[in-house]
Amino acid sequence: MSPAQGLRAANDVTNPNDLDSWWLPFTANRSFKARPRIVARAKDMYYYTADGRQVMDGSAGLWCVNAGHNRDPIVSAIQAQAAELDFAPAFQFAHPKGFTVASRLAELAPGDLDQVFFCNSGSEAGDTALKIAIAYWHTQGQGQRSRLIGRERGYHGVGFGGISVGGIVANRKLFGSLLAGVDHLPHTYNRAEQAFSRGEPEWGAHLADDLERIVALHDASTIAAVIVEPMAGSTGVLPPPKGYLKRLRQICDKFGILLIFDEVITGFGRTGFAFAAERYGVVPDMITFAKGVTSGTVPMAGVIVRRGIYDAFMKGPEHVIELFHGYTYSGHPLACAAALATLDVYRDEKLFERARSLEDKWADAIFSLKGLPNVLDIRTIGLVGAVDLASRPDAVGQRGYEAMDRAFQEYGLMFRVTGDTIALSPPLIVTEDQIGEIADKVGKVIRAVA
Ligand SMILES: Cc1ncc(COP(=O)(O)O)c(C=O)c1O
Repeated sequence: MSPAQGLRAANDVTNPNDLDSWWLPFTANRSFKARPRIVARAKDMYYYTADGRQVMDGSAGLWCVNAGHNRDPIVSAIQAQAAELDFAPAFQFAHPKGFTVASRLAELAPGDLDQVFFCNSGSEAGDTALKIAIAYWHTQGQGQRSRLIGRERGYHGVGFGGISVGGIVANRKLFGSLLAGVDHLPHTYNRAEQAFSRGEPEWGAHLADDLERIVALHDASTIAAVIVEPMAGSTGVLPPPKGYLKRLRQICDKFGILLIFDEVITGFGRTGFAFAAERYGVVPDMITFAKGVTSGTVPMAGVIVRRGIYDAFMKGPEHVIELFHGYTYSGHPLACAAALATLDVYRDEKLFERARSLEDKWADAIFSLKGLPNVLDIRTIGLVGAVDLASRPDAVGQRGYEAMDRAFQEYGLMFRVTGDTIALSPPLIVTEDQIGEIADKVGKVIRAVA
């Protein structure tokens, strides 16, 4: 780019005239740049383009804006924090709000998940949890327990740990041999058995038993942890079969294997509870979180661990660092201020309860799309929904891409697609009318791409 062009682009923040330099993540860059989808501002349930067109947010941004956009208490808290304390190191120093956020999160987490290790993204949280699991076994004199078990179709971010335990082929295949010593459970989706299930499907709890086969193959003494999303989100919304997560917990207990729930999507009300662990009555050994903790306003993530795990590290000489791990921005003051204000909004507006109380209406609205052209399956859980569309011959993902693009450009609706699956997850402030509007727009889009 010439300096003159760069200056023009830098000065025009709402209407960029040069789309060349930003290599967008998880984006079809050439298609995007040919027909961009750019939002300039947002409020509550809506995004607005630079020319003022309103776009309903059907995906809470990227599953993160659970409190709705630009909420006044959160905006004010971030502004005040920027003026008061911009940065404080969290290595050997700290600041007050970090402790407050950690204890608020520990209150929300089930059982004795009492300590919080802060990160900045779901990917960092995933890798951090895996490292804590392996290091924990060292503290127990069982350093040979280093094997990690993920699940097919799982998504745990894009770090090398996350893609190794993750099970989305496109995220793995270009990146070499990944972490050694990883195995995978089968995914839990079977259209023949589960198509058009509302909520948790009846079929599939037995798939957890595959962990017994993996243990028999590798021996429990080599396995550190199992990591799963309670509801697999990024792969296309797969609610857990009834009883599946309890069975996984029982098998982990039987063999002394740590169980990690990746709640980066399911946390903060998405399934009607602070964490899906509560919805399913299962206490994992660690929970990873991100996204909704600040309603997407400032990057924050972390791992909540059971007290026994934290205590296991609190040994040895007291001047020595117990865990050689952390990030410059762990527990950043701006993120902590945003998190506190967000958690207050969730509590004061009872947004988790709201998601629960809207769940049936939401499911009714999304299931009303059954029977439209190319609809092969519909799944819902909490305030999440997915519609599988048939792929066009020899062009997997093309119908989904067109649906996402036309929804934004022509129908004023933002949603996510994974291949040819439409994924919906509105902010938890969505009203019943807006639920109807979302379903109506999705229906129009499905017809348009038939
Ligand atoms: C379950 C899960 N884990 C981890 C991540 C990665 O989070 P991030 O993009 O913040 O690294 C995501 C992102 O969507 C996710 O859905």
